[in-house]
Amino acid sequence: MVRPSLHRPLFPVGWFAVAVVDELPVGALVPLAVFGQDLAVGRTPGGQALVTHSVCPHLGADLAAGGQIDDDGVVCPLHGWCFDHGGACTSAADGLIPETARLRVWPTKVVGGTVWAFNGRDGEPPASLPLVLDAAADAGAEIRYQATPETGYQLETRLGHPEDVLVGILASAGAIDGEPSADDPGTWLGTGPDGSQARVHGPGMLVVRLPDGADEAVYVTPVDGFSVMVRTTSDKQCPDLGPTRADLSTFRAWYRRFDHSATPVSSPARSGRAARHRARAAGTGETPAS
Ligand code: FES
Repeated sequence: MVRPSLHRPLFPVGWFAVAVVDELPVGALVPLAVFGQDLAVGRTPGGQALVTHSVCPHLGADLAAGGQIDDDGVVCPLHGWCFDHGGACTSAADGLIPETARLRVWPTKVVGGTVWAFNGRDGEPPASLPLVLDAAADAGAEIRYQATPETGYQLETRLGHPEDVLVGILASAGAIDGEPSADDPGTWLGTGPDGSQARVHGPGMLVVRLPDGADEAVYVTPVDGFSVMVRTTSDKQCPDLGPTRADLSTFRAWYRRFDHSATPVSSPARSGRAARHRARAAGTGETPAS
């Protein structure tokens, strides 16, 4: 059995659902606490969304307290400096733009009413969209996993690492066996003895097949080192066993692919522990985490 490390990276690399776009005021930045940081999020009149660091790189004003956003960029409430959606400063009050004046922004997408932000290692950009977003973009398909005030959803805070919360939900759904998808190794396919099914897309999204055949999406997003935000796309309470004795060791090994230290997944093992893990996984048929 692969036991969770005591020193896990708190914020896995990948896309996470951080807000519902309809709940954001148009043209204004509001506070967002995810990935262990104080961020700001807003939507433009054109329907785009943007997630930024909340501290202005000029003199540190809080952009989530009066900052404005439009389709061109962000305006600081204190001295009016402007930043484009890539974070570059485009206008300074005295006209001279310092080379170092740059606002950190998180790659952001709005899909199906949900605002997604990419948490990258050292701010690295995403290599691709999550599968659920790719499918929608490729086929113009209907976005099934809506999370809007109109369709109803549950939002709550739970204690733990995203991996542990996902394990609890998988166990509650009865989907304690499984393997990575042959089509996309970033997707986990969980199954249970009674035919129950669950799919985990990336580090923060899970889709459970309910008894009535309907799919319910659950978004798990790290807030800080102790808690996660859990949002479901229905008005039902998301199941959770809490601490579980279910053996989900192969899932835990798969989830390590999203750790900072294990990304990119193609990098060679850099430590004896990683090498031993690879050997152990190869010997048991488990999928190596890196
Ligand atoms: S603190 Fe933001 S423009 Fe001065």
